[in-house]
Amino acid sequence: MTVIPTAATPHPAPVITHAEEDHPAYLWRDGHILPWAEANVHASSLGWSTMAAVFEGIKAYANPHTGAQWGWQFAEHYQRFAQSMRLQRMRPEFTPVELADISRELLRANGHTGDTYIRPLAWLSDVTWFTDGESSRTSIVIITEPFSSHLRTGRTVKSCISTWIRVGDNQLSPRVKCISNYQNSRLALIEAKRNGFDQPILLNQAGKVTEGPASCLFLVRDGVMITPSLTSGVLESITRTALIRLCREELGLTVQERDVDRTELYVADEIFFCGTGAEMLPVSSIDHFQVGDGGVGPLTSRLEKVFHDVVRGIHPGYSNWRTPVSHA
Ligand SMILES: Cc1ncc(COP(=O)(O)O)c(C=O)c1O
Repeated sequence: MTVIPTAATPHPAPVITHAEEDHPAYLWRDGHILPWAEANVHASSLGWSTMAAVFEGIKAYANPHTGAQWGWQFAEHYQRFAQSMRLQRMRPEFTPVELADISRELLRANGHTGDTYIRPLAWLSDVTWFTDGESSRTSIVIITEPFSSHLRTGRTVKSCISTWIRVGDNQLSPRVKCISNYQNSRLALIEAKRNGFDQPILLNQAGKVTEGPASCLFLVRDGVMITPSLTSGVLESITRTALIRLCREELGLTVQERDVDRTELYVADEIFFCGTGAEMLPVSSIDHFQVGDGGVGPLTSRLEKVFHDVVRGIHPGYSNWRTPVSHA
């Protein structure tokens, strides 16, 4: 690197790299599997180019008995990724099917055999300053990272209602998994944590319950599973859809998708967050109202077992949700 000293920067700027062990060997970018250190972007494109950026969080789970690794709902995630790009008027050069295949290839290249996160991101790679971005190329990068599942560990979180209002469909639509939407989530999370809670729940402009900063939400009242409707101001969560189906087909429960009042949370028998990152995350209290006995509720626990077994391929059903990732 050639650094020309100036009065303001008399010394060469340090080259900041990640420690070798902090990242996998490879990532995928715009058609190529690249060594991690070679996937650079120019500093001038930081900032505005990411304003419209959209992303996905996807997981692959390992079966502890057979060692098989399964991609979880790759097709659904890459369809939503395409939908987010469409809503940003991006022009991706890769289809959802191609991106799913690439994800399997990258998992193999990085030798990930256990539980692994797959994170695709699309951004406007020609943009250096504010513009509509319509003439820019769309770049896509996919990175992978091992994670530890907390399914069936008994972990619970303390929740609260945020003073921050969830962005609406006519503002920054929560239907678009756009990085910019997460400023709203971040502000709510900061407030909750500074007030001693783990996860906030945001209300919409009408005062109805929406979701957490990065997860959807279910509550149980008198044996009925309830979740805010998809038009209440939530991401069209893939986990939420899968859980609704598992509730009905595996547990025989009634599921309602509807408006939810804040005070319904205070009298709920059980509450849990759900999402790719959250998996299923039971709520022990909400605004200091204890939920049930403060632990994992009985229906939550039953659903969590089914979900755990399905994502790991221990339950043989729902095979179209799982993509085999061969390491042969
Ligand atoms: C804001 C928000 N809501 C809900 C979810 C859950 O969506 P999914 O189940 O598709 O992961 C997420 C993320 O994963 C999210 O970021």
